[in-house]
Amino acid sequence: MGDRLPSGVAMTSAFPVLAQQVGGQPLAYLDNAATTQTPLPVLDAMRRFDTHDRANIHRGVHTLSQRATDAYEAARERVARFVGAGGEHALVFTSGTTESLNLVAQGLSLPGMPSGGGEGALQPAWLRAGDEIVVSALEHHANLVPWQLAARRSGARLRILHPDADGRLAPEALAPLLTPRTRVFAVTACANGSGERPPYEAMLAMAREAGALTVLDAAQAVAHEVPVLATLACDLMAFSGHKMYGPMGIGALVGRRAALDTLVPLRMGGDMVDWVSETDAGFADLPQRLEGGTPNVGGAIGLAAAADFIDGVGRDAIAAHVEALREHAAAGLEALGGVRVLARRTRGSAIVSFVADDVHPHDIGTVLDSRGIAVRTGWHCAQPLLERLGHGPTTRASFALYNTHAEVERLVEGVAAALEMLR
Ligand code: ALA
Repeated sequence: MGDRLPSGVAMTSAFPVLAQQVGGQPLAYLDNAATTQTPLPVLDAMRRFDTHDRANIHRGVHTLSQRATDAYEAARERVARFVGAGGEHALVFTSGTTESLNLVAQGLSLPGMPSGGGEGALQPAWLRAGDEIVVSALEHHANLVPWQLAARRSGARLRILHPDADGRLAPEALAPLLTPRTRVFAVTACANGSGERPPYEAMLAMAREAGALTVLDAAQAVAHEVPVLATLACDLMAFSGHKMYGPMGIGALVGRRAALDTLVPLRMGGDMVDWVSETDAGFADLPQRLEGGTPNVGGAIGLAAAADFIDGVGRDAIAAHVEALREHAAAGLEALGGVRVLARRTRGSAIVSFVADDVHPHDIGTVLDSRGIAVRTGWHCAQPLLERLGHGPTTRASFALYNTHAEVERLVEGVAAALEMLR
């Protein structure tokens, strides 16, 4: 890991984008929480589809359409297996985590046409006035703003599960928020802003026990600590392909069929209907009911190839590698004067987010870029969390299987140089 894949292939061969210089230095790409890079087997799988099998799916009797349909459905089965989905689950392809979470929050809070057809009255929204939605304060905006809208639209109350002063979520803090009115609990598997990995397994179990529908944002976990659905009290889980070495513009909402069946479809049109008359329609079964329109077939195939890639390398080996890089980086950064690392004690995270006294993260990021080191700076789409913790914007390095301890050393040296220059 790091320099070479277990097969012996150099990372710069497997990931061609990494074989370049930035600022006169070999690129150290440490912005993997924003997007990971894509290896050749994934690019090859998508290219094979586009150069050999490309056609629209589910609609054609011709050979290419049938091949494309088979490849798309095989990709669905592969990705579902990757996240430990069982017979009671279904997987809906989406454009990514944001679309998945919007599908959940809006699909629970909008009235919709009855699935079986029936002109006239709409079926009422699943969420009602007086219901309660509990969302953790660690969330990316994509797992908060859709719930704000859902609450306002339905008259439900949005309740926030706050972390302690160190940014940690405790199951004991969730208990008092769970009431007979709690209908939804939504939480992240790893906070993209701070890097905190909460005890989501226990919290999901508590929320389900209390009768809530449970939603997990797995975007920052699928590349190294894949949540296994069959082991979780999780009704619906969202993730993105581009954060797990797959393509952009593809992701999934996977969960219990019964939970997916409660969602009002947001994309009306082709492929999601069973029959249509001039004034009415009956919807197809899952997963098509929630996949209206032409899907990203090549993306789904690339996502399945990314799942193969991760499993070929080994989930445990990847998890151990990124965790060791995080610990190395956190220790090195913390040793610099006036630097605070968020979520310092968390385990199972690939993100190190930090602030430095008297220096703005954008300035640190700019100095690092001049040394060939790519990090992310700012609010990371997690403004409420960073404000609550009293930090404001941070600098964030995030690790993938192709990163090395030598790159961590460069990061720490680069931050030290930036602080000396800027203070
Ligand atoms: N959600 C991505 C991030 O945290 C973009 O950087």
